[in-house]
Amino acid sequence: MKTQKIGFGTAAIGRPQYINIRSQEIEAFSLAAFKEKGTQVLEVAYRQGIRYFDTAPGYGMAEELLINWVKEKDDPTIEVATKWGYAYVANFDPDALVHEVKDHSLGQLIKQWKVSRKLLPNLSTLQIHSATFETGILENEAVLQKLAHLKSTFGIKIGLTTTGDNQTEVLREAVEVTIDDDPLFEVFQITYNILDQSLLEVLDLIDVNNNRIVIKEALANGRVFPNTNYSAYKNMYVALEQLAEKYKVGIDAIALQFCVQTIRPFVVLSGASEISQLKENLKVNEFQLLAEEVSQLKYFNIDAIDYWSERKRLGWN
Ligand SMILES: NC(=O)c1ccc[n+]([C@@H]2O[C@H](COP(=O)([O-])OP(=O)(O)OC[C@H]3O[C@@H](n4cnc5c(N)ncnc54)[C@H](OP(=O)(O)O)[C@@H]3O)[C@@H](O)[C@H]2O)c1
Repeated sequence: MKTQKIGFGTAAIGRPQYINIRSQEIEAFSLAAFKEKGTQVLEVAYRQGIRYFDTAPGYGMAEELLINWVKEKDDPTIEVATKWGYAYVANFDPDALVHEVKDHSLGQLIKQWKVSRKLLPNLSTLQIHSATFETGILENEAVLQKLAHLKSTFGIKIGLTTTGDNQTEVLREAVEVTIDDDPLFEVFQITYNILDQSLLEVLDLIDVNNNRIVIKEALANGRVFPNTNYSAYKNMYVALEQLAEKYKVGIDAIALQFCVQTIRPFVVLSGASEISQLKENLKVNEFQLLAEEVSQLKYFNIDAIDYWSERKRLGWN
């Protein structure tokens, strides 16, 4: 059991389309087969020692899959973190134009909590899904009070996830949110990877007390893998390939290990959609990068504005 540094993110097993740079067509979609495969991936993750699972109502069937699966496993060592604030609206239609709708109202929190609470007692964390300034969520007193109430009533942690080129500003404001003089947020799920290292600017502010830092999008939605459409990353691809060859693992394991060694987070999320990918991701446990190799990879950091404008152009595949 050496895989505690990796948690499993369920976005890719909950809905057939997801933001990535995948180019091949997926075979004809069957809801039953997709559900079956999702459960198999969860089982393999569990057998490989993963005990932290991240989900959201916005991830299609993922949360429901976990509600049923954790009940069946009946294992108190399984920890689930869910979110609220996005509704999945594509109804598993591969041609859907809109996949999710954001709603940070108190009504949405109450509505989604009614379902998410079924994850108790394995539910450890409830997170605001993509906290931004636009929805005013960090100043919505009614919502913040409700979250504090859920925290004390159910003994769960309250967290938030951040996305976008102003992640660091949202994080700076989030750590200041207190209810009755206690910081509200204890879990911070943040995008961090070789290309977007902006988290390092605010790490000292967040990595205090017993706060948990959870890393998402560690593979930059697939952009760390060699791809002729991204010629600007040629040198990064070469460096990653050399390290992958040296440690006899895939590029994914190198990129995940970079996150582990530079942040020392609570967990890095694997976003694998296939069992084979998950097993490759878990090779992160087989080696350590040398300090000079970490420094070499740090050099490939790009500006957060460029990173997120490129991400906006990625499709749902
Ligand atoms: N706003 C939020 O709260 C938010 C946003 C994003 C993610 N998350 C959480 O973070 C988790 C992880 O993020 P993510 O999946 O978006 O990002 P990610 O880890 O950066 O990217 C996953 C991508 O890597 C590919 N991949 C993984 N292992 C591979 C391998 N061995 N070989 C080739 N390709 C491989 C996947 O391929 P495919 O193309 O085959 O799928 C997918 O495109 C999610 O599941 C979710 O729980 C939260």
